[in-house]
Amino acid sequence: MMDTQKWIEHFAANAARTSPPAPDFLAPCEIPQGRARDLLASSLATFQLGETGEGRKLKAYAARVAAARLPGYDRAVEMFVAEENRHARHLADCVRYLGGRLKGAQWTDFVFRRLRRLINLQFELQVLLTAEIVGMSYYALLADAVPDTAVRGLCRRLVADEVGHLRFHADFFRDELRTMNPLLAGLWRWQFRTIFAVTRAVAWWDHRGALAAFGVGRRQIHSRCRRGRRWFESKLAPAGEGAGGIALGEMNL
Ligand SMILES: [Fe+2]
Ligand SMILES: [Fe+2]
Repeated sequence: MMDTQKWIEHFAANAARTSPPAPDFLAPCEIPQGRARDLLASSLATFQLGETGEGRKLKAYAARVAAARLPGYDRAVEMFVAEENRHARHLADCVRYLGGRLKGAQWTDFVFRRLRRLINLQFELQVLLTAEIVGMSYYALLADAVPDTAVRGLCRRLVADEVGHLRFHADFFRDELRTMNPLLAGLWRWQFRTIFAVTRAVAWWDHRGALAAFGVGRRQIHSRCRRGRRWFESKLAPAGEGAGGIALGEMNL
């Protein structure tokens, strides 16, 4: 069974950590002013929007699960949402650092929020999972491609946190899948991959300009996302269990 206490401790330690040091957004930006920087600011502002939100539905679901069979899951999910909100604050600082503007509404964000509510709760959770994988892959690509110390520093931190998020979700869904009958579990996996393909395509379409401005093309984006999905699926498998801390190599996803 999922060790919720381990995750509560993980999120608490993560919130209190001081290394690596927080990126210095008061330093002068190393990317020259111009189109590439504007595109990056706008792209990060979209992700900033995605990281905000109270996660009300997710928290309500976690409260039900916690009461029925998994004590502590509600607390862990609360701390997970708080960490995403911290990402939103860091990303907001980063957007301002680049000279960009925050967004109040954005079509992909709107589509995701609508799409999530469309079908059922499992569907909604799967959209969240796929967005986590695509987000992690996107931050990892930027961490390599953007020639700016602060942006790279932020992206590395975000990737490390997102690896933790996906491990957290895998811990939960591994048990869920185990209790489903094989047909239903197969259907879950198929639905997950389908949603993943859509999420990846939408994210690519939305962020392709910003990524291309820093030399990252479609094939690179797709293969990085695919690696992320496969890694997550390996954690979902029964053998993916027993994962302790975050292996350093995984930060290169
Ligand atoms: Fe995040
Ligand atoms: Fe996340």
